[in-house]
Amino acid sequence: MFGARLDLAERYVALLADTGISHGLIGPREAPRLWDRHVINCAVTAGFFDPAASVIDLGSGAGLPGLVLAIARPDLRLHLVEPLLRRTTWLESAVRELGLTNVRVHRARGESFVPESPADHVTARAVTGLDRLVELSFPLLRAGGSLVALKGANVAAEIEAAAPTLRRYAVASTEVREAGVGVVDPPTTLVIVTAGAGHRSGTPTRSPRRSGDVRRSADARGRSGGRASRGRQDR
Ligand SMILES: C[S@@+](CC[C@H](N)C(=O)[O-])C[C@H]1O[C@@H](n2cnc3c(N)ncnc32)[C@H](O)[C@@H]1O
Repeated sequence: MFGARLDLAERYVALLADTGISHGLIGPREAPRLWDRHVINCAVTAGFFDPAASVIDLGSGAGLPGLVLAIARPDLRLHLVEPLLRRTTWLESAVRELGLTNVRVHRARGESFVPESPADHVTARAVTGLDRLVELSFPLLRAGGSLVALKGANVAAEIEAAAPTLRRYAVASTEVREAGVGVVDPPTTLVIVTAGAGHRSGTPTRSPRRSGDVRRSADARGRSGGRASRGRQDR
């Protein structure tokens, strides 16, 4: 999976086990299973991205899957989008320490992130339900681009719940794929939602029933010093 870059992957796992845990980005109980449950779980998805594609990883946390993809696929251009300062600070130091040149870290919420150009793919793992993920990712995608969401066993129910949103965005296709069969147990379940040829990036995402998000956004601003929702890239 990592080829000649296995050394980089090992250094990333060492960072996760050290400051990733001490800075609270990864729970201490994850230490013995960083490789299979986290890094390999993400790495097996690396073949699902177009050559030299731009990829926005929403809610990157400790860099899962964003940093794993940047290591496994140096041809990709990764944008890690994460609202919490403590996490973006850690991500920036990890990028520096690993010497990765294909990653940029942005402190922002998905709702307010404005990419320099529409992305070929958006990824997300353990961030929110598929319904909301489509609303967050589609404004960031180019026509024909895809949301590649790493999901769990509940995927069929998530797709069903997202049906009205999938129709609203006139998606070209929604596929469920298993990655890493025979490599990692359980294999990684992916939902790949592809934007149609007529898709326009930047399309407003809000549906009327989302009024509760205003309160949640305000809560998030309060927790992170009021800076998480600014509608700009950090650098
Ligand atoms: C459970 S963690 C998962 C982190 C990482 N993707 C992983 O798989 O370990 C969810 C992450 O999403 C971020 N997040 C929550 N809401 C978000 C939003 N609206 N836009 C971008 N990131 C968000 C959180 O700050 C957190 O880092």
